[in-house]
Amino acid sequence: MPKPFVLRWGIISTGWIANCFVTDLLVDPETRNVTDVAHKVTAVGSRSIQSAENFIAENAKGDESIKAYGSYAGVFADPNVDAVYIGTPHTLHYENALDAINAKKHVLCEKPVTANAAELRSLLAAAKEHGVFFMEGLWTRFQPLALEVKKISESGVLGAPLALQADLSLDRRLHRLPKTHRLLDPAFGGGALLALGPYPLSWAILALYEHPANQGAVPSNVSATMLKTSLTGVDRNTSFMVTFAERELAAQAILSCNINVTFCQPGVIIRYEQGTITIAAPIYCPKSFTVQYLEGDKVTKEETRRFEYVGNGWHFEADEVARCVRDGKGESSLWGHDKSLVEMDIFDEVRRQGNYKLPPGAEKVV
Ligand SMILES: NC(=O)c1ccc[n+]([C@@H]2O[C@H](COP(=O)([O-])OP(=O)(O)OC[C@H]3O[C@@H](n4cnc5c(N)ncnc54)[C@H](OP(=O)(O)O)[C@@H]3O)[C@@H](O)[C@H]2O)c1
Repeated sequence: MPKPFVLRWGIISTGWIANCFVTDLLVDPETRNVTDVAHKVTAVGSRSIQSAENFIAENAKGDESIKAYGSYAGVFADPNVDAVYIGTPHTLHYENALDAINAKKHVLCEKPVTANAAELRSLLAAAKEHGVFFMEGLWTRFQPLALEVKKISESGVLGAPLALQADLSLDRRLHRLPKTHRLLDPAFGGGALLALGPYPLSWAILALYEHPANQGAVPSNVSATMLKTSLTGVDRNTSFMVTFAERELAAQAILSCNINVTFCQPGVIIRYEQGTITIAAPIYCPKSFTVQYLEGDKVTKEETRRFEYVGNGWHFEADEVARCVRDGKGESSLWGHDKSLVEMDIFDEVRRQGNYKLPPGAEKVV
């Protein structure tokens, strides 16, 4: 068997999600039947060298081949790093990603990829100029369940999609968080939309935007409303409707995200002319979905699919990055630049309608 292509990762930041991502990077790819690519963490950068060293000790069993840096710049300059993973708060993604791109590193940047669409457009131009791969870490989109839902959705067995509902809610006990927490602080782009909104929207993008009948058209309408928390003024409850009706598709998505109530079941319902797909919460990493085939309002067949694997689901996006870098691609065909742009354009519009302005300086490009 040919040897796998090994992608050498540099990790920026040592917070919660960076821990999750690296834990999954270190899962043996063969446990998920992946033999063509593999991963090696070669550097970890933090604002504190102690934190970088602790991160390596805790997540990589103190692997001495991994270099710890007390800055992000050290990782960008490291010749043993091919790709940089960015796990900093939303409003820092732009400058961190730009520094990585300028150092000619490939980039996987956490969701939401930037604070607004203008920042994303600027990063995409820089990535093109430097000839590097760039992708938002919309991890759900690479999980086997999402690939299967897409296959069924586009096979035509259920007819055309007509309506979709998706919600992601987490009860974050806001009163117990410091107002400087990234979820509450407007300077970090706090609130429900930017933190949780990518997930319900990603299902609408998969089922509606990507559907062949939509022919790549951007939404014809976005309507939104936001309820803010009196703690810091960030959005606590956000609901938005996205309509796709520019080409042969005519369908609507009703999407919501909340940071003060827990998630509901099912997390996603996609309704087609002749059936329904329901996806179990949590919708960022669902483990099962059910397809109902309908004749009128009569259910003629029902099938449930369950998914299990070693690890927590972040490794699938890492495999995609490795394959794209190996193949010299600038973007993924699963979650390409156009999809992140649709997402950020919608979020800009939702914030405009919800009158949620980030404080001056939080958005680096406007
Ligand atoms: N894909 C997913 O499932 C998922 C889940 C949760 C979060 N996320 C995304 O990941 C990002 C980070 O979320 P998180 O929950 O991991 O946050 P977190 O635990 O607060 O970690 C953020 C890290 O960013 C670094 N950082 C740099 N400048 C900072 C500053 N001024 N203030 C605070 N931290 C700073 C810190 O690392 P150092 O001290 O080491 O520099 C910190 O540990 C967010 O954009 C979020 O949307 C994604």
